[in-house]
Parts: sequence; structure tokens; C-alpha cells
Amino acid sequence: MSVAPKLGFGPFTTPARGVLVVFCDAELKFGAATRKALAASGDLVKRAAAADRFTGKQGAVLDIVAPAGLSVTRLMVVGLGKVAELKPQSYLKLGGIVAGKIPSAATETTVIAETSAGAMKNELVAELALGARLRLYAFDRYKTKRKDGDERPANAKLTIAVGDLEGARRAFVPRNGIADGVIIARDLVNEPANILYPEEFARRTLALKKVGVSVEVLDERAMKKLGMNSLLAVGQGSEHESKTVIMRWNGGKRGDKPVAFIGKGVCFDTGGISIKPAAGMEDMKGDMGGAACVVGLMHALASRKAKCNVIGAIGIVENMPDGKAYRPGDILTSMSGQTIEVINTDAEGRLVLADVLWYVATRDKPKFMVNLATLTGAIIVALGQEHAGLFSNNDQLAERLTKVGEATGEKVWRMPLSPDYDKMIDSKFADMKNTGGRYGGAITAAQFLQRFVDKTPWAHLDIAGTAMSSPASDINKSWGSGYGVRLLDRLVADFYER
Ligand code: BES
Ligand code: MN
Ligand code: ZN
Repeated sequence: MSVAPKLGFGPFTTPARGVLVVFCDAELKFGAATRKALAASGDLVKRAAAADRFTGKQGAVLDIVAPAGLSVTRLMVVGLGKVAELKPQSYLKLGGIVAGKIPSAATETTVIAETSAGAMKNELVAELALGARLRLYAFDRYKTKRKDGDERPANAKLTIAVGDLEGARRAFVPRNGIADGVIIARDLVNEPANILYPEEFARRTLALKKVGVSVEVLDERAMKKLGMNSLLAVGQGSEHESKTVIMRWNGGKRGDKPVAFIGKGVCFDTGGISIKPAAGMEDMKGDMGGAACVVGLMHALASRKAKCNVIGAIGIVENMPDGKAYRPGDILTSMSGQTIEVINTDAEGRLVLADVLWYVATRDKPKFMVNLATLTGAIIVALGQEHAGLFSNNDQLAERLTKVGEATGEKVWRMPLSPDYDKMIDSKFADMKNTGGRYGGAITAAQFLQRFVDKTPWAHLDIAGTAMSSPASDINKSWGSGYGVRLLDRLVADFYER
């Protein structure tokens, strides 16, 4: 178990203790406050840089232990490259890099948030701090033993020294809510399925009430009454009751149409009767990454009091093989009235989403719906783990998502939808079947979902490659990435707030 250092802000100082982190540009130049803090060290940095071939490249770190002339225990010089070329996202990454370099023994770490051009702007300081918080997250609640030397002092502090203390603090408030949202999503994805089954997942969403989100939980009886037979079929082989959770944040004008986010919440996906192979099946505890993102997003939006009316809706089930489980060949009547022939019980996510999408589209008539789902292995084959697959019936929404994807680094790549694919999911017996065969698996899954969105502007994000088992990045070391929270928070902030 490690405790992340407590993050805070302070004024520009010349620290006497602990670890000092400073930034330099591609000419190894510092700002004034940094020069002052380093004054007693003479040409130390210059010599160390030459010895280590450190050139101030963006993200490179020159680590000097027991720096001569200074009373700090360690001096880390972080390269910014050319300062004029830095983007807000660069600061986010730099925050992650800095946090990742803090030695576990450090009690006090001071980061001087200054470039050679002067104090970093408050918004950029806030990005830096957000990156640091996200990087410091670790899911270790089930580790009872620690490795030697891995233990942080319980009172460890990370202080970001800034030019404008009040301004930096103010700029960080919304980012802190966003960080909390990302961490909520990561925790949910990392949690194993013996702990996080549907009832427990639904229970955890109730914490959103504290930030002013209303939460409504539909149990199986309520869903049966609504005719959500497609979702219910997936959960019927599980000992755990299925749930749908509807969350509402009303930060917009009264009567303004809401925007809606919908998530796939399969707490564990064995594949059901069409059971998955054993190898890697443990990863299917993360098959609720879409739902986790929606919960984290609702938290982020509410805690920063987003001026928008927002609905979050998640279908939470467990897909198990059992005497009561649904089977290949079964025909389900979805809430929309459309019938579905089950070909493969492992194509369960679309069955869950079909009813939740229809429920939200017809009941709330949202401005748009974005759903997130760890839907197909095929999207990982197509795009790897760097982009989520984006499918949309609306070019404006797709363009906006692409834009905020670039801005946040939670990237999306648009994939095609076309009626030409529809024949692949035609069924001999029902209106459609739930799989389209080996080719274009991510596309036929999206074509399927599209049949349940009515006329609503809609986008589907297939996050099977980005939500879990994520390659380590500057701002995330955890298995669950929390993908989508920052992306969609930004979508709302940039385009849908009054
Ligand atoms: N949850 C899986 C998709 C998945 C795979 C997510 C790997 C994350 C990592 C989904 O329910 C599934 O099993 N999809 C099948 C669909 C097929 C049966 C048509 C797939 O992708 O193989
Ligand atoms: Mn499956
Ligand atoms: Zn699944």
C-alpha cells in the first residue's frame, strides 16, 4: 500500500528541504524565481546537464542527488523544450512525469511552476496539478504487503509553488472534480467482480447524491414492467439481480433538453453459454468500463457545477452460464418492440445497451446521446489501444468528439456506419440477430445499436481497447484508465454549457 503525497499549492519560494523540481527550456534557461532558488548552486546544472547529455527536451528529467551548494536532498530539472510550443496537454503530461519521478522516500517535494518566460498561467498550473494527481493514483487496496523501499512517508507532500496562489487554487477546483471523476471510474474498473456485482455497482452510484446528482435505480421488476427484455436476458443466468441506474444533473436552464451519456455495465462477462476461453477471462471484470465512465463523468460535471442538464444511464448486469441463462437461438423482444435472435450470448453488451438507449431516447428526448461500451474485440484489432472507435449518425457530434479527443488526449477515430452493413445482421427468424459474423465486427455491433436510438443524434464509443488493460502513460499507471471522463467533460464544457 502506498499513500499518494498530498497535493497543494504554495507561493514561489526557495525551499531548504526535500526534493526540488524546476523547469528549464531547450536552452537550459530558467525563470527568475527558479534562478533565485538555484543561485547558490553556481554552474552545477550546466555541468550535470553536460555530463548527462541533458538538453532540456520536453519531458526529459535531469536528476541530481545531493546537489552541491543547495540544502535540498535532490534537484530535478525537467525539460520543457521550446516553451512557445507547449500546449495545455503538454502541462498535463509534464505533471504526470514530475509526479512519476518523486522518489518514494521523499517527504517534501516542491515544484516551481515557472518557465523561462515566467510564472506558468493558472490554467496551465491546474493542468500540471491534474496530471500529477492522475499519475499518483494506484489501485492497491487489496495489497496487504509492500515491497521494501516502496513505502511512502504517510505525511508526504507535493507542493506546487506558483506566482498567483489564489488564482492557481481557483483554476484547480474544477480540475480536482474531474480528477475525482477519473479516479471513481478507474476504481470501478479495477474492482473485481466478486466485490463489484450489479447491486454493489448501483449502490456505489448513490454517492453521487452528495454532489447534487439525483439517482434512480430500476430493479428487475421495474425493468420487466418497462419491457427491457433484451437487457434482462443477459442477466438472467446470474445470481445477481440486474439494475439500470439513471442519474440526473440539472445545471442548465429549466426545461432545456438534456444531453445523455449511456454506459455498458457488464460487471463480469464470461460470454455466457457461448463461453469465452479461460486465457485472459479475468480481464472481463472491466467490461463495465462504459458505465464506470458515465458515473465518473456525472461526478465531474456535478462537482464543477456544469451549466447543462445531463442524464447518465447505465445498464448493469453479469453475463453467466447457468441453467437459467439465455441461449443461442433465443428470440428476445426488446423494449422498442424489435425482436432479436441471439446467435452468440457473448455479444451481450449490445443487448444491454439496446434497451437503455431506447429508454433514454424515447423518455427524455435528449439533445444527443453518447454511449460508451467495451463492446468488441474487433475494435482493438482495428485501432489498438490509442484510439476509441467512434461511430455516429451525426457529423457535428462526431467532429466535436474528435476535437475534444485531440485536446484531452483521449483520442477517438471515426469508423463507418452504412445501411450496406445491415444485411449482415438480418435474421431468419427475428428482426435482427445479435452478431454479424467475423468481418467488421465493431461495425456490425454499431449498426445494431443504431437501431435503438430512434432519430436522436447519437455517437457510440467502442472503448474495449482504451478503458482497461491500458498501456502505461504519463498520467496513468493503473489497469483501468478512466478513459472518457475527461473527453466527455470537455465535450460538455466546450459545446453544451449555457
Ligand atoms: N466484452 C466483450 C468485448 C471485449 C473484448 C472487451 C476484449 C474488452 C476486451 C464483448 O462482450 C464480446 O465478447 N464481444 C465479442 C462479440 C462477438 C461474440 C460477436 C467479441 O468481440 O469477440
Ligand atoms: Mn461478451
Ligand atoms: Zn462484454
